[in-house]
Amino acid sequence: MYTFEKYKKFISSAVVASVVLMSTSCNGSNDVEQKATAEPAKAEAKPAETVAAPVAPAAGEKGIDGGAVYQTVNGMYTSYAVNEQEKKDFTFGRAPTATEIAAWDIDVMPDGTGLPEGEGSVEEGDELYEEKCAMCHGDFGSGGKGSRSTYPTLSVGEASIDSLTHQRTTPDADGPKRVIGTYWPYASTLFWYIQSGMPFPHPKSLSDNETYALVAYLLSINEIEIDGESLDDEYVLNREKFLKIKMPNQNGFIPNIDGPTGPADAKAFYADPNNYGNGTRCMSNCLNGEKPNIVRPMNIIDDFEPPMSTERMLPAENTEEAGPVHPGKKLYEASCAVCHATDAMGAPNLGNKEAWAKVLDKGIDKVYANGISGVNAMPPKGGTTVSDDEFKAAVDYMIESSK
Ligand code: HEC
Ligand code: HEC
Repeated sequence: MYTFEKYKKFISSAVVASVVLMSTSCNGSNDVEQKATAEPAKAEAKPAETVAAPVAPAAGEKGIDGGAVYQTVNGMYTSYAVNEQEKKDFTFGRAPTATEIAAWDIDVMPDGTGLPEGEGSVEEGDELYEEKCAMCHGDFGSGGKGSRSTYPTLSVGEASIDSLTHQRTTPDADGPKRVIGTYWPYASTLFWYIQSGMPFPHPKSLSDNETYALVAYLLSINEIEIDGESLDDEYVLNREKFLKIKMPNQNGFIPNIDGPTGPADAKAFYADPNNYGNGTRCMSNCLNGEKPNIVRPMNIIDDFEPPMSTERMLPAENTEEAGPVHPGKKLYEASCAVCHATDAMGAPNLGNKEAWAKVLDKGIDKVYANGISGVNAMPPKGGTTVSDDEFKAAVDYMIESSK
């Protein structure tokens, strides 16, 4: 606890410190000047030494944030300015109390760590939603419209969840809709996001049971099932059932390129036609059948409202670069570097002499042919639709830069 004795100690050591500081800074000047500067410091210190111990705030007195009132001394909040802890490196602030940490530490991990006990039904969630959320997020999570479109859509009802599985671009002009059901890999995020951030004007105001109810409602309007059971009005969500939730897009966030199996994961991912297309261009019914026919290396979503700025802050191209620019460089940078600039994909690296020497062992014609038709995780023409000559120029550029 705070004591006057400590406070006095703090003030006097501060005075000593400032006097020491001043004399050091005056080292180069003459004695007269030094005395002159030291004196006012002492004079300033006087009132501080005689300052009275802070008194407890009068009963009922509150700070503007509704919390406790901290005494201020010389313009500083005593509770923070007076360090009551023996700390070597810091002379400011204090360690948070266990209660303070508990109040903030409410995140929930995908494995259930941090998920409290509790329960709530879809119906209760529906009522809470009407009362606390619908004014911003719209009926049934339909989202704010027009000038209120900053309020995210929380459900697109029967939107095709397939559209986002595997993170692919679909031929649908509207583009995929990223909402809880189609996009979020784990329901745990839903729980702690709502509890720590919503309703927007009153974060952290929802009880565990209320949060369970709201999560149940949001899952139900996203047509998520739990353990094969659909969530009707009577459905009661609790911790045990929550841990069984598997979100449809859980495996959409692959490949996992971290760790020792990263390169193998990446290779397997790109070698699977479900993830990357099978090399055949498709103009209609592209999502029919088990293995969609789309070749589309980049996931381009450009239907933002308002439209995203197309201005780029890239430095202007230096047209006076010394010597001619290799004709394959531009294509390499635009379409190949994404895989060939790193080891993560298992692609021969630009600049890796050994890797390219090994590739070229089979002869340049075979290398061109492999690149054009695709080989393992290398998509046909790197996923581009350039001419054979343009593609070969990019190959040449990589080879020449890797000698
Ligand atoms: C005053 C308006 C308002 C209210 C009321 C409100 N929200 Fe939100 N909500 C927002 C805004 C704004 C965001 C986006 C915040 C951001 O992206 O930083 C958001 C984001 C969300 C998201 C994340 C959506 C996403 O896809 O990223 C969820 C889930 C959510 N709110 C749930 C709720 C629930 C449940 C309630 C009621 C308990 C609620 N909100 C009440 C304004 C509101
Ligand atoms: C999605 C990732 C990816 C993209 C994009 C990509 N490559 Fe590759 N590329 C690979 C991988 C992986 C390999 C190694 C394949 C193997 O041998 O298993 C490879 C191998 C190659 C090879 C060697 C083929 C052989 O015979 O061994 C050439 C040549 C090549 N890429 C050219 C290109 C060019 C040119 C572009 C751009 C137009 C490009 N790549 C874009 C992933 C990619």
